[in-house]
Amino acid sequence: WAQQVQLTLNTADNKITISRFIYGHFSEHLGRCIYDGFWVGDSVKVPKKDRIRLDIVDALKRIQIPVLRWPGGCFADEYHWRDGVGPRAKRPKMVNTNWGGVTEDNSFGTNEFLELCSLLNCEPYISGNVGSGTVEEMDKWVEYLNFDGESPMANERKANGHPKPYNVHFWGIGNEAWGCGGNMTAEYYSDVFRRYASYCKNYPNARLSKVASGANSGDYHWTETLMKNVPHGMMWGVGLHYYTIPTGSWRNKGSATKFDEKEYFSTMKNCLRMEELVSKHSAIMDKYDSAKRVALAVDEWGIWTDVEPGTNPAFLYQQNSLRDALVAATTLNIFNNHADRVRLANLAQTVNVLQALVLTKGSQMLLTPTYYVFDLYKVHQDAKLVPVKFESPDYTNGDAKIPALNVSASKDSTGALHISLVNLDPAKNISLQTSLDGAWKNVSGRIITSEKLTDINTFEQQKKVIAAAFNGAKLSANKLSIELPAKSIVTLELR
Ligand code: AHR
Repeated sequence: WAQQVQLTLNTADNKITISRFIYGHFSEHLGRCIYDGFWVGDSVKVPKKDRIRLDIVDALKRIQIPVLRWPGGCFADEYHWRDGVGPRAKRPKMVNTNWGGVTEDNSFGTNEFLELCSLLNCEPYISGNVGSGTVEEMDKWVEYLNFDGESPMANERKANGHPKPYNVHFWGIGNEAWGCGGNMTAEYYSDVFRRYASYCKNYPNARLSKVASGANSGDYHWTETLMKNVPHGMMWGVGLHYYTIPTGSWRNKGSATKFDEKEYFSTMKNCLRMEELVSKHSAIMDKYDSAKRVALAVDEWGIWTDVEPGTNPAFLYQQNSLRDALVAATTLNIFNNHADRVRLANLAQTVNVLQALVLTKGSQMLLTPTYYVFDLYKVHQDAKLVPVKFESPDYTNGDAKIPALNVSASKDSTGALHISLVNLDPAKNISLQTSLDGAWKNVSGRIITSEKLTDINTFEQQKKVIAAAFNGAKLSANKLSIELPAKSIVTLELR
């Protein structure tokens, strides 16, 4: 049976833009994300530019990837960029101590990353090394990337085959400074941030958007200290990292593919914590910055499960089910609805690591259920947020309950209205009614669902969980009614 919900959309309220950078991604030198992911050798028989896989590039272009974060993660704070430029044969090797102690040959470095971003037509977001680097090293990296003139670093870039500056904007000052990025206190890091940020220069046409390494989930003291101690003109954004762990325990996170309803419920409960985190960090930021100049940058998020059996535990390779799609859609609805403060976010991580969009095996590639969420939701990029009100039915499990329904909506530059709806209840449909202002003539939609929450796409069956046409919405005299199936994600378009 279906539960009845009345939805109210305020289509006249067009104050807030949903930054497209909320739809960003993350690619670390970790496991098979870069090496044997984006960047492959001759044995992988697919179209390539240099060693970059163009099948992956094409797939990501279809979802309009707006920004890609690199080179880490924890790896960023042991990465020395000079090792990754110049002739490849001469580049020194290093040990990737964070991720399995594997040898990093530095064949994918700064120029290769920026070539990838240019193929993707997306903005780069580089995280500089604070933990084991120096101010001078970071200062020179920015000069190498962004100075359009005669200087030692600009000349080196030219000699490496790139005469024009790259004009990189998004710039991270370290990563997880409270942990793998140097184990600092918030007070100490805010001074370190001020020092590093002072030497990351704005060159002509390349004003840096500097992002401070942000809080670990509910560490509100971290955000408060940064907002209090760092002049806001120096800091474009403050980061926040939060991962959804199905069981809630880092020691035994739960399987990506074998879980029961109880574990599904706890996954979604943990995923919904993002609403509380974003609200509370934003409220702290409001105290110091009521004009909302500083962005909240959720530059790592996603579901983190146990690795696939038989794979290297340090490579963080996990499968991706309908549950992952529900996590992604719910989180993106939260970000859309907080677009006044959340203006950058990066799902971890694009290829073969954690909540990946793309999985590869040799020359094969598959698109995960999460990929299709970004396909449905790309319509919200740079659109105007439309506030939505409703009372959600409960989804209950034992004595616990969570809201079954989450929604976000926006109006794009052509005037089209898009509504994204997620029903987390695995068994009950939801019937929604809404009266709309304005003259809407047509409704269409797409849906992601599947028979089971554990359904996945495999190399043998690549199209089990995909986006399909949705026919459950009816428009008559500006009354919109929607039959939202259990465990589904729907995006509607009204014109
Ligand atoms: O995304 C994997 C790791 O998670 C990143 O390297 C680190 O920043 C975080 O702890």
